[in-house]
Amino acid sequence: MSKISDYIKVGLLALLVTSCSFQNSEDKALYLNSEMAVEERVENLLQQMTLEEKVAQMCQFVGLEHMKQAEKNLSKEDMEKSDAQGFYPDLHSTDVEKMVEQGLIGSFLHVTDVKEANYLQSLAQKSRLKIPLLIGIDAIHGTALVQGATVYPTPIGLASTWDTTLVKKLSVETAKEMRATGAAWTFTPNLDVARDARWGRVGETFGEDPLLVSDMGVAMIEGLQNTDSDAYFNVIACAKHLIAGSESVNGLNGAPTDLSERTIREIYLPPYKAAVDAGVFSLMTAHNELNGVPCHADKWMMTDVMREELGFEGFIVSDWMDIERLATRHFVAEDQTEACYQTIDAGMDMHMHGPEFLQPVIDLVNEGRLTEERIDESVRRLLEAKFRLGLFENPMVDETVTETILFNAEHQATALEAAQKSIVLLKNEDELLPLNISKKLNVFITGPNANNESVLGDWSAQQASDKVSTILDGLHEIGTSCNYDYLDVGHNPRHVTKAHIKQANKRASKADLAIVVVGENSFRWEWDQKTCGENSGRSDIGLAGLQQDLVEAVYYSGTPTIVVLVNGRPLATEWIADNVPVIIEAWEPGSMGGKALAQILFGEVNPSAKLTISIPRSSGHLLSVYNHKPTHYFHKYVTSKSTPLYEFGYGLGYSDFNYQNLQLSKQSIGKKEKLLLKVEVTNIGKYDGDEVVQLYLNDKICSVTRPVKELKAYRRISLKAGETKQVSFEITPDMLVFLDKQLKPTIEEGVFKAMVGGSSRDKDLLSIPFTYVE
Ligand code: BGC
Repeated sequence: MSKISDYIKVGLLALLVTSCSFQNSEDKALYLNSEMAVEERVENLLQQMTLEEKVAQMCQFVGLEHMKQAEKNLSKEDMEKSDAQGFYPDLHSTDVEKMVEQGLIGSFLHVTDVKEANYLQSLAQKSRLKIPLLIGIDAIHGTALVQGATVYPTPIGLASTWDTTLVKKLSVETAKEMRATGAAWTFTPNLDVARDARWGRVGETFGEDPLLVSDMGVAMIEGLQNTDSDAYFNVIACAKHLIAGSESVNGLNGAPTDLSERTIREIYLPPYKAAVDAGVFSLMTAHNELNGVPCHADKWMMTDVMREELGFEGFIVSDWMDIERLATRHFVAEDQTEACYQTIDAGMDMHMHGPEFLQPVIDLVNEGRLTEERIDESVRRLLEAKFRLGLFENPMVDETVTETILFNAEHQATALEAAQKSIVLLKNEDELLPLNISKKLNVFITGPNANNESVLGDWSAQQASDKVSTILDGLHEIGTSCNYDYLDVGHNPRHVTKAHIKQANKRASKADLAIVVVGENSFRWEWDQKTCGENSGRSDIGLAGLQQDLVEAVYYSGTPTIVVLVNGRPLATEWIADNVPVIIEAWEPGSMGGKALAQILFGEVNPSAKLTISIPRSSGHLLSVYNHKPTHYFHKYVTSKSTPLYEFGYGLGYSDFNYQNLQLSKQSIGKKEKLLLKVEVTNIGKYDGDEVVQLYLNDKICSVTRPVKELKAYRRISLKAGETKQVSFEITPDMLVFLDKQLKPTIEEGVFKAMVGGSSRDKDLLSIPFTYVE
C-alpha cells in the first residue's frame, strides 16, 4: 500500500472515531466562538481531536509551488543534502492537497504567494475540524523571499544601527507584509552570537555581543509579535537556532559544536533568556550537535533549560529535516521512528518538514513509548498559537490589499533609514569624503557588487529591478553632477578576470575618483555560486576570486580610490585598510541600499553605524572578540599583528565626538543601589551627526576570569555641529553578576571599572573606578 493511501485511511478513521464521541453540536463548535478564552477553545478543540489529527498539527510541509519547483531541480539524493529545497518523492502535490483537506497537515513553510496561501487555507477549511494552517516563512529582514516585499538590511547591518526602536518599527512593518501575503509565523530572530567569520550565516545575526544580540532580538520579537497585547499576535517570532551552531568546530554550518557550559551560559544563552522573557512564542533547534548530543535530541537544552529554567511557554520547531538526520547524519537513532521518539521526548513540538513524522509518531503512541498526554502538550501550544493569531476567524487574506502593503512608501522610508544607519565608514583618510555634491567629477566605478542585488543579502528572492537600488543606481540618483564610467565585471565575485583587471586599471587612471564595490554574493537563486549565506562557509575570509587584484589595479592607477564592501560576514582586508584611503562596510543594506550609500558618499547623510562584530585581520585571527579574557593577547603572533583590523563598536562619521567629565554619583554601590554615571559628549566637527555612546564594565579581581570589558548599555544621540550633551547611564548590581565556579550567578565585592566612549578600543574610552560593597 502506498504511503498516501495510508494517510487517507488514517483521515477517514479519524472522522469515524470523532463523529461518535461528541454528541452535542453546540458543544462541538465552542472552539469556533471567538468570545471564549483561548485556553477554553484549545481544550474544547483538543477533546474532539483524534490522535491522528493531533499529530498532524505537529507536521509541517513545504508549499505546493516550492515542492513543484524542487521536484524539477533536484534528485532525491541532492534533496537529502539540501537545506533550501524540498519535495516528497512518494507524494505528488495533489496528494498533499488531499492531506490538507483531511486535516493531516498543520503547517506549511516556503509559501511565497498570497494566492497559494489562500488556496491552502481554503483546503484546510474543508477539513473536519476546520483548523487553519500555520504558514511560516523566513522573514529575516523583511519578508524578502516574497516577490515585491520590502527588503531591510540584513541583521548584521540592523545591529550596526544600535537602534532598537528602528528595529522594532521595521519588524512591525515586516509583520504587516507577512500577514498581507498569508504568513503568520517567521523563523526569526536569529540569536546565534557570531564570533567566527568563516560561518556563512554571520549576516543573519546581530554580531558578537550577547547584550546587543539580546536587545536586537527583543526589539524584533516585540515588533513582530506585538507583545503590547497579551491576547493577540501580529505574527509569531521564532528565536533560533538552539544553540551555538555559529561556533562549529571549523566554521561549517551544521558541523559539531564543542563548548564549555560556561561559554554556553555566558555567551550563547543570554539572548534566549531575553527572548523568552519578551514572550517569544517559538524556538528552533540547531543543525549541529553540542558536546556530543545533537541539538534535536537535547533534552537538557529544550526541556531543562528552556522550559524549566527559563520558563519558555511556546512551541519548539525542528530545523529543516534535522529529525531525519538524527538517524542519517548523527547516527544516534537507528531509524526515523527512533529519531521521532528522541526528539519528542527531548521536547520537540513540530517537525520541519514532510511525511516522515505522522505515522512514526502515531506508532510510538500506540506502542506506549510516547503518551498521548505528551502529544497533547505540543498540540495545545500549537493551537494556542493559531487562536492567538486570529487564524480561526480570518484564515484568508484579502488579496486586494496585498499590493498596497508590500513595499509601500512608509516601508521604503523605513528601509532607507535603516540602510543609512547601518553602513559603517571604516576609514576616511584626507577627508576624501564627503564628496562635493555639486562638483562635476568623472567617476570610474567597477566591481562585482557595483550593480547587482547583493545589497539584498541572504533570505531574499531576486526582486524586480525597480524595487532594488543597486550601488550604481544610488550614485545616479544622488550624485547627479558626476559622470560615471561603469566597467561591468559581471555579478559574481569569483568571476572577475585578468582582462577586467587590466581594463579597470586603464579606465580608472582617466577618472577623478574611483569606486570599487567588492565583497560577497548571497544569491539564493544561484545557490551553487554564492560565497556567503546559508551553507556557504569559507576557510579563507579574504576577498574571493580576483577581487583583491581588481582593487589593487584600481588603486595603482593613481586615482583616489574608495572601496565599498557589500558582504554578509567580516572580510579580512588588511591590505586595503593599510593602503586605500576610504573603506566603507555597507553590509547588505537592502532594497534602498544603493541610495543610502550614495547619500553617505555625497554627504546628504552623516554615517553613524558602528560595528557589532570585530573584523579580523585574517582567517587565523578568528575569535578576535572585544570581550576576550585578560590573557588573550599575553603573547603575540610572531608574523602579524595580533589584534583585530577593526574593533567592535568602531565606526566613523564626518564629525568627531569628544568625551569629557566622566563622573559617578558615588564611589561605591551596594546590593539594592544604583550608580548614576554621566559623561559629556561634544560634536567637535562641522557636520551634525549621531553618535553611539557605549558603556563597558570590567571586574578587576574576580574568583573566575572575567572579560577585559563587557558592553552593559549604549545610547544613540544626535548632536548638532558644536553641540554638547550630557549622557547618563544607570549602573545597577545586576550588571555586575557573573557565574561562579559552580556556574551560579553571583556578585563579589571589589573594584570595578566603568568605561565610556565611542568604540570598544581602549583609546576611545574614558574610565572611572567604583567598588561594590554588600
Ligand atoms: C535554516 C533555518 C530556516 C529553515 C527554513 C534551515 O535550513 O537553518 O534557519 O528557518 O531552513 O527555511
